[in-house]
Amino acid sequence: MSRLRSLFTGIFVFFSLIAIADEGMWIPLLLERMNEKEMKSLGMKISAKDIYNINKGSLKDAIVNFGGFCTGEVISSKGLVVTNHHCGFDAIQNHSTLDHNYIRDGFWAKNYGEELSNPGLYVTFIVRIEDVSKQVLNGVTAALAENERQSIVDKNINELRKNIKKESYQDAFVRGFFEANQYYLFVTETYRDVRLVGAPPSSIGNFGKDTDNWIWPRHTGDFSMFRIYAGKDNKPADYSVDNVPYTPKRSLSISLDGAAEGDFTMVFGFPGRTTEYLPAVAVQQIMEVNDPAKIAIRDKALAVIDGFMRKDEQIKIQYAEKYALIANAWKKWQGEVLGLASTNAVDKKKTYEAEFQKRVNANPQWKGQYGNLLSDLEAAYNEFRPYGLARDYYLEITGKIELFTIAGQLNSLRNTKNNGTKNAYSEALAKTKEKLEGLYKEYSPQVDRSLFEVLMEMYVKDKIVSPLVLEQLKAANNDFPRWTDQLYSGEELTAGNKVMAALEQNPAEFLERTKTDKACVLYNDIAATYNSAIAPRLNEIQGRINKLQRTYMQAQMEVMKEKKFYPDANSTLRLTYGKVKGYTAKDAVRYDYYTYLDGVMEKYIPGDYEFDVPKKLRELYNSKDYGQYGKNGKLPVCFIASNHTTGGNSGSPALDAWGNLIGLNFDRTWEGTMSDINFDPSICRNIMVDIRYVLFIIDKYAEAGWLTREMKLVHPKKK
Ligand code: ARG
Ligand code: ASP
Repeated sequence: MSRLRSLFTGIFVFFSLIAIADEGMWIPLLLERMNEKEMKSLGMKISAKDIYNINKGSLKDAIVNFGGFCTGEVISSKGLVVTNHHCGFDAIQNHSTLDHNYIRDGFWAKNYGEELSNPGLYVTFIVRIEDVSKQVLNGVTAALAENERQSIVDKNINELRKNIKKESYQDAFVRGFFEANQYYLFVTETYRDVRLVGAPPSSIGNFGKDTDNWIWPRHTGDFSMFRIYAGKDNKPADYSVDNVPYTPKRSLSISLDGAAEGDFTMVFGFPGRTTEYLPAVAVQQIMEVNDPAKIAIRDKALAVIDGFMRKDEQIKIQYAEKYALIANAWKKWQGEVLGLASTNAVDKKKTYEAEFQKRVNANPQWKGQYGNLLSDLEAAYNEFRPYGLARDYYLEITGKIELFTIAGQLNSLRNTKNNGTKNAYSEALAKTKEKLEGLYKEYSPQVDRSLFEVLMEMYVKDKIVSPLVLEQLKAANNDFPRWTDQLYSGEELTAGNKVMAALEQNPAEFLERTKTDKACVLYNDIAATYNSAIAPRLNEIQGRINKLQRTYMQAQMEVMKEKKFYPDANSTLRLTYGKVKGYTAKDAVRYDYYTYLDGVMEKYIPGDYEFDVPKKLRELYNSKDYGQYGKNGKLPVCFIASNHTTGGNSGSPALDAWGNLIGLNFDRTWEGTMSDINFDPSICRNIMVDIRYVLFIIDKYAEAGWLTREMKLVHPKKK
């Protein structure tokens, strides 16, 4: 009987260790070897070579890293790119004023000439990927200390870079994978003239705002459009009126057939960061220490900003993006904590670790090599705990008080002036000016001082606090409003026009003078406290953890042989695949996989901050004027699938079995936001806006048919 039971547990452990089809962010170069067979069995109709091929145009040639933080895809032979509304938001905001409020009203160019340029925005194509692990790890041994290892790796990469075959206008970089057990080279092409073509009003592009963010069912038309411009030779070029629309190697065809439950889908893009191979102790720390601390700080910051935005239209424009960014991670962490708890992530990790340890112990060689790994990791993470918390406090708080950001910029510029070369100083000066110029455009001293008041009250709760903070606070009778008043009253750094003028006229004199500025001095002390009392220990422990995690990764790949491993996200191009499907969120709550325009109307609250619906969209709904984009009298809006995605995947194409565009990825469901740490295929779903809704908004709502006519619309299911 007991033998039978252990046989069953054995089988259970075995099956739970096999990577489930939906999990994983795969390296395009390795698809043929690692995934093609499974993808075909799930319904894919094309081959791995159609997705990634360096000898002729493949799907990867239509995918771009959008600005370094999102993904976009080329959808016409004239360089038209589509991404999310929240990815294009910075550009939309920069062109918005109280008179031309593109955030509120949307924007549509009527011809090339009306497309708007966006200094600093770029898109990057991946030309080629190569496994360079052998060269990079040449001379590296397990015995090396982290810094020694890193210098050998750096030297090898420098060496390798000298011999890379690439064109002069191309770039190349090397990135570590599997905790730097492997290295891959990426040859890229970056286009720097990217113009805004169109965006729906926020009441469509960000419908439901923060209330609906991370939530299914969803009804957001989260898209915006750009166009890549190139020099006359089709090569990357700085902005110029003479540039021409870029002719891509490949653009995506767009399917009008949508997706049915069970259909194969893939998402191709640039996922930013995941940590799927943490030990139980680290997962528990995130749940109990780091996420809660960051959530509590952001609770306060958001309440302050929201209060101002709701009563002041100018501040609403200025702070819209800042607010959305702060709220986005804040809400995600809350979902993450809930999801880690509800899926018993820590216990699952413990079970997995017990199996790992059992196998290691049974093999003398492994036992010598990996026997203490898990206990060493546990000890290191426990040591890390207070420093990780202090780091979160420091970064979360000082990063939100912009008077500190300004002071920090000036302090480091002064440093460069006094200690750096002339060249370094003039470069730094130009950079600082640019940075501050942007900052002040979206800065309100009133909001900032309120932030200071509530956030510094949190800052002093941490154990390691700047002595000057304590001193000043004592002088203000521990009264935060009074202290805030003392700091902000007469503070010249809150006046953007004065600072910018001073940096223009006589920067040297200004920098000398602000050496004794109250904010500069205070921030200096806060930063110095962090840099002396926290950072050194934090970095030392983190270095040890990195090394242990690397060995643990290598050990898992060796010991847990039946498991198919994928590398954590690191902002490089990946493909993930799964199926369109609903999910059971909790007892008796089952979610369907599609939403329709009817659902937008169900959520409609006239005049509401988050759920208003533009008049024209209501009219189109009433007349059911959906054209070729509707289906059985309804207009599809969003859908979900089991693709494994994360931040950075926003704007990524959702592709059907033939590689046609069927939607844009933009979010994940509430129950599954812990997928960065523990992917659970039963509840983790990515959310996409249906491409037919996007086309409907462009064509019928914005009447920008000149754009849809550029695209290639297909009906793969009618073949
Ligand atoms: N949660 C999504 C992502 O992580 C979408 C964010 C944009 N939408 C919003 N309402 N803030 O980025
Ligand atoms: N919304 C995310 C993004 O902006 C995607 C995600 O986290 O699921 O990249």
